[in-house]
Amino acid sequence: MGTCVSGNFLRDYWYVGAWSDEVTDKPLARTLLGDSIVFYRKPDGNVVALEDRCAHRRLPLSMGSVIGETIQCAYHGLVYDPAGRCIKIPGQDGVPAGARVRSYPVVERNQFISVWMGDAAKAEDTAAISFPRLGDPGWAHSKVRLEVGANYLLIIDNLLDLSHVAYVHNSTIGNAPVAENAVVKTTAGNGTVRITREMVNVPVARTYAEFGPYKRLFDRWQLSEYTPPGYFLINNGCAPPNSATGDDSRLHGPGEWGFQVYHCITPQDERHTHQFWAIAYANATIAPAARAEFNRQHHQVIAEDVAIYEAQQCALDTSGDGVSAEDVRSCISIQADAGLLQARRMIARLREGTVI
Ligand code: FES
Ligand SMILES: [Fe+2]
Repeated sequence: MGTCVSGNFLRDYWYVGAWSDEVTDKPLARTLLGDSIVFYRKPDGNVVALEDRCAHRRLPLSMGSVIGETIQCAYHGLVYDPAGRCIKIPGQDGVPAGARVRSYPVVERNQFISVWMGDAAKAEDTAAISFPRLGDPGWAHSKVRLEVGANYLLIIDNLLDLSHVAYVHNSTIGNAPVAENAVVKTTAGNGTVRITREMVNVPVARTYAEFGPYKRLFDRWQLSEYTPPGYFLINNGCAPPNSATGDDSRLHGPGEWGFQVYHCITPQDERHTHQFWAIAYANATIAPAARAEFNRQHHQVIAEDVAIYEAQQCALDTSGDGVSAEDVRSCISIQADAGLLQARRMIARLREGTVI
């Protein structure tokens, strides 16, 4: 890992810090927005998130031991409660007032452990984003956390321009019509940016032909909805060829066959990002025996994207003119940039504290 720069991140938000099954009664160290955090699970099942730096000599608490609902530093044995208060100093009576580490508000829902990274007093006013299909027994899913060696904005850009599916993912979910034959609509409002791409009467891409009901031609759509700071819902569906009615409502569902993809993007620092990714589909969509291969193709897709982000970050770092992911200073603007430019403007307004 590079330097831990806290960066120009939006702080007063919930960020996904871990999948539920990553946090146990053993300490888990993770860097979010430049903050070193230790997670652990108490005997009652609730998750604790504390600053991962002992108040005594700054040893990471994640090197210590969870004892009941407390955590003990591995160096001189100071013990902290779930609120971050030091409650025991071995060999002495009493604990100095104010001996503590920061504690972060946490909520756990639908497989996500979300952490409030800003002013704790504001946490209750905002609901953490979750995707209920990840907790729905009628749906199956596959998930992963990726460590991406790139600024989080490059990932957001990628997910707001799905024309790239035609080129980056052309051995699975993509083919040329995704870029060349899509009717693209971009809308921003109610705190989200939404882009729809509808392709009518186009050839079926490999993954769709292999697992879906259409083998030759179909109508296909993608809906990408971004909610700051780093949440994406991507809805994918299809229907018989030439069945579009001009009514966009079908783009929100699977049509005859489809699936959803979720991304939660949490910066580590300016050049590293946690990407929590899941694909979800109704149980009837993919037969149990076919799920391993369907999921594999989508894990390949996300690995292909990571290679793009990391190569872009490397190109920015070596450009020699001080350009960054914040300020890409692209030489060419294309029509497909509309959504990502809307998102960048939204992030800029949020940083200024403007209500969107
Ligand atoms: S550094 Fe943690 S107890 Fe001394
Ligand atoms: Fe992609």
